[in-house]
Amino acid sequence: MSNPREQWSSKASFILAAAGSAVGLGNIWKFPYIAGENGGAAFLFIYMICIVMIGLPILNIEILLGRATQKNPVGAFKALSGKPFWTYVGALGVLASFTILSFYSVVGGWSIAYTVEALKGFTFETPQVAGEFFDLKNSNPMWVVGYHTLFFLMVLGIILSGVRAGLEKASKYLMPALFAILAILVVQGLMLSGADRGVSFLFDPDWSKINAQTFLLALGHAFFTLSLGMGAMMTYGSYLSEKDDIVNASYLVAFLDTFIAIMAGVAIFTVVFSSGYDPTAGPGLVFHVLPPLLSQLAGGYFFALLFFVLLSIAAVTSAISILEVSVAYLTDELKYSRKKATLTMGALVYFAAIPCALSFNVLSDFTLFGTGFTFFDMADYLASNVLLPLGGFFLAIFAGYVWKVDEVVRNLLIGESQSTYFGNSILKSKSFVAIFSFLVRYISPISIFLVFLYQFGWI
Ligand code: TRP
Repeated sequence: MSNPREQWSSKASFILAAAGSAVGLGNIWKFPYIAGENGGAAFLFIYMICIVMIGLPILNIEILLGRATQKNPVGAFKALSGKPFWTYVGALGVLASFTILSFYSVVGGWSIAYTVEALKGFTFETPQVAGEFFDLKNSNPMWVVGYHTLFFLMVLGIILSGVRAGLEKASKYLMPALFAILAILVVQGLMLSGADRGVSFLFDPDWSKINAQTFLLALGHAFFTLSLGMGAMMTYGSYLSEKDDIVNASYLVAFLDTFIAIMAGVAIFTVVFSSGYDPTAGPGLVFHVLPPLLSQLAGGYFFALLFFVLLSIAAVTSAISILEVSVAYLTDELKYSRKKATLTMGALVYFAAIPCALSFNVLSDFTLFGTGFTFFDMADYLASNVLLPLGGFFLAIFAGYVWKVDEVVRNLLIGESQSTYFGNSILKSKSFVAIFSFLVRYISPISIFLVFLYQFGWI
């Protein structure tokens, strides 16, 4: 006997959970580091276009497919189409969930490690010094693997004990707290001398920096940061009831997510440029740059500790949504108990992550297929730039051509809030349907396709 499917306690808790999934290391760790490597404002600009034109419609579709079928990605496609092909697309999501978690939990481990370091008390004068500390710590495989393990146990613990309700409640306070402390860091960063150079790096585009690579990375990051393309939002949507509004929730989640990434960007690039640091320092960037900024604050010890606690929590709430896809698949389709599903997937992903954790020490010279990528780089690249956009491509095709836009819009209207939000009036208008249809049927699949052609060197 399978248990009745759980549902969110309220629409607000869905929004919190969806925002908790979207806002994570992608915003605070990843966005600044890839923006730094790809021209700052030029990247931000293309990334925002991708969010609005491709991310938002796909976010709506994903949540909707989940709500309409009340199933995990594999089951959802099976229910709506019945063709085996679409089941494989759902399975792609399960594969992506593996790939993402294998590097995500290493970065989650860093966040916990820095919480512990902050507790012990660190003071770094400059990003250079903090950077050396980061490298030194990472050269010890036990350190990285140990904290990866700790992070993983936290994620498993939460999924297992089903404290989701507790976590939902907690995020009500923790998310605003993260927001507040980021705001303090933004102000602090802006007061540094030379901060304006950081601000113009992030907001003043140098168009000559834009190339096909920028599009590839911006598109991939738009998927990653909104948790799209592998069924995480679909799975979360499957715990929604028909009464619940999707469109407004999507706007809110996408807006919050982007805003938080930009705040992190300002905090980081003001420090980078005022201290003459290198914006292309790579995956360690946040850990090199924010500790010195935190150390300078009055009450720095307290703020540093709080910041890394919140970052770890943001990472955990995202990681849960990644693992939940595989867990929902096993419980829905193979009728595993929640416990068995969590432990099975957890163990598999845990071991898959070890090579990523060793990419900064034992395996740092081991690169794959002549790409120059370590396991860590490869997992990150493969997820964001191949698996997620591929998932997004099929979602757009499915919604635009198999399920059809009219049906999508008809479903979107179910549960649509009758309030005076602009979402409601827009949804019913002809121009909304026309634009939505154009984005879903043409813009999303074609741009993703072109990006793929470029990526594989075919154009
Ligand atoms: N969006 C999260 C972040 O920015 C990461 C994440 C959670 C994710 N769930 C996902 C990424 C599903 C891709 C797919 O940190």
